[in-house]
Amino acid sequence: MSPPASFRQVTAQVLANITLARDTFLIRLKALEIAAAIRPGQFVMIRLPGRTDPLLGRPFALYDTVLDERNQPFAIDVVYLVVGKVTGLLAQLRENDTTEIWGPLGNGFPEPLGREHVALVAGGIGQTPFLAHIRELLGQRGYGGDKARRRVERVSLYYGVRTADLAAGVDDFQNAGATVHLASNDGSLGFHGFVTDLLDRHANPEHLYGCGPEPMLHALAQLAHRKGIPCHLSLETPMACGVGICFSCVTPVKTSDGWDYRRVCVDGPIFDAQALHWRE
Ligand SMILES: Cc1cc2nc3c(=O)[nH]c(=O)nc-3n(C[C@H](O)[C@H](O)[C@H](O)COP(=O)(O)OP(=O)(O)OC[C@H]3O[C@@H](n4cnc5c(N)ncnc54)[C@H](O)[C@@H]3O)c2cc1C
Ligand code: FES
Repeated sequence: MSPPASFRQVTAQVLANITLARDTFLIRLKALEIAAAIRPGQFVMIRLPGRTDPLLGRPFALYDTVLDERNQPFAIDVVYLVVGKVTGLLAQLRENDTTEIWGPLGNGFPEPLGREHVALVAGGIGQTPFLAHIRELLGQRGYGGDKARRRVERVSLYYGVRTADLAAGVDDFQNAGATVHLASNDGSLGFHGFVTDLLDRHANPEHLYGCGPEPMLHALAQLAHRKGIPCHLSLETPMACGVGICFSCVTPVKTSDGWDYRRVCVDGPIFDAQALHWRE
């Protein structure tokens, strides 16, 4: 299977790399063709050039594209949490350093079912795909060459973190027009408890989109099933190639005779919640 025509592998100049929250950074990478083609929910692979350790790239969601003075996309923003080797090295990059990136990858968010109200549910670093998604849903921006078109009246973001100083990008989501509801495990920010419990207490949206750790996504899939709300989940499965070759990223999905594996990098990362086969 060959990658889509818009696929590019480029050396991208770092335009900025700033702190957003504890251990959380926004890196701006100059990559004209990827910025012009990428859509909300898609991702790029990033690796550090000239290194054999770590050898492999890592997947990162599009946070947003950056426009020049003629409103043409010329760079992408990625928000990352430092958890290991690549993210630790990314945090050391300065302006004019370079990274290797390839993309756009993955399927992107599907159109919402319903025109009134959709809710996005994020846990941990799972908020990152939702800024561009909010802007697209509310018709502020078009992506991948599309014109801006309003798709829904209202977008709510339910965002849960372990503790307050890990919350990253809240102002960006509010400025994009979403109503933001915050939750924290230790009660230091917003609702004290799981973000899915907070969502459960609020009005029912017409469509749910989720991204975050697997237990949160499983709870969200169960909530959506119980309430009969369509739900799409963006999986954060570790990946080695990002382009469908290595099968390191497989996830089980339901089939007519049981279940089978699908590659998250090419068949996802976004899946219908009810199509996923959850391991209890
Ligand atoms: C489609 C997609 C989009 C993503 N978008 C973002 C994003 O926008 N921002 C962001 O910060 N991260 C994102 N991630 C997760 C990110 O790819 C990993 O955190 C990254 O690979 C860590 O690389 P590292 O070299 O720093 O850590 P490593 O040294 O590879 O790992 C450090 C530790 O983290 C664990 N780990 C690594 N990856 C994962 C994972 N995916 N889930 C659970 N544990 C993991 C390892 O087991 C290890 O314990 C995304 C993942 C996917 C699949
Ligand atoms: S990451 Fe290699 S097949 Fe998905």
